[in-house]
Amino acid sequence: ANLVLLGPPGAGKGTQARMLQDRFGLVQLSTGDLLRAAVAAGTEAGQRAKAVMERGDLVSDEIVIAILRDRLGQDDCAAGVIFDGFPRTTVQAEALDALMAEMGQSITAAISLDVDDDAMVARVSGRFTCAGCGEGYHDSFKKPEADGVCDKCGSTEMTRRADDNAETVGQRLRAYHAQTAPLIAYYDARDVLARVDAMAEIETVADGLNRIVAQAA
Ligand code: AP5
Ligand code: ZN
Repeated sequence: ANLVLLGPPGAGKGTQARMLQDRFGLVQLSTGDLLRAAVAAGTEAGQRAKAVMERGDLVSDEIVIAILRDRLGQDDCAAGVIFDGFPRTTVQAEALDALMAEMGQSITAAISLDVDDDAMVARVSGRFTCAGCGEGYHDSFKKPEADGVCDKCGSTEMTRRADDNAETVGQRLRAYHAQTAPLIAYYDARDVLARVDAMAEIETVADGLNRIVAQAA
């Protein structure tokens, strides 16, 4: 299966993609993670993306599609991919359809994680991530069992993202509504759209996604 997860910042795309990866053996492919890695490595694309990401705007389609194409060409992706945070514009969605067709594949399901904007600032502001294994946490909604120690890998090094402040989250939400929300209709027109209430608890949202993916597989 190849899945697209749609939803605004804080909807739970990364959280759910990691759970689906473990459960179904699919590969999580997050353009946000790939871009942050490019910024950290100081590549040309990363240098161009850095300020755009700090403002909460979308990085150019050209850069994102090039990074995505590289990653999708790696062998592990043949098992099936969860696209997390991609596509985000109609141009990206069309490019993804073309890339999938070249590989003899298609998008099995595009799942919209439906949430209220108001709750997203709290979700994003409380977020932190394990530097050792990438597991995501939250100050109120998903604390590690032992304070400051990753449940999965035992690392005590946690990081917070530069764009996870109230001001930037506002701009990221605006970008979502203007440029990404139209993709809900794009995938509905292709008969692959599913919707999940992502205001529910993490495990409840995961149950809904598991049912959709099991049916689609
Ligand atoms: P990206 O990294 O994709 O960030 P985003 O879309 O803003 O999404 P987030 O990672 O903030 O949220 P999420 O939905 O993954 O939520 P999470 O699971 O962490 O993009 C960052 C930037 O990169 C963009 O602004 C843009 O500049 C650029 N970019 C990336 N892709 C691009 C593209 N394709 N084109 C152009 N530019 C691109 O959950 C959030 C928190 O809530 C966590 O702490 C979690 O524990 C908690 N949580 C999750 N689910 C629940 C729940 N059900 N109840 C309570 N808490 C929950
Ligand atoms: Zn960890």
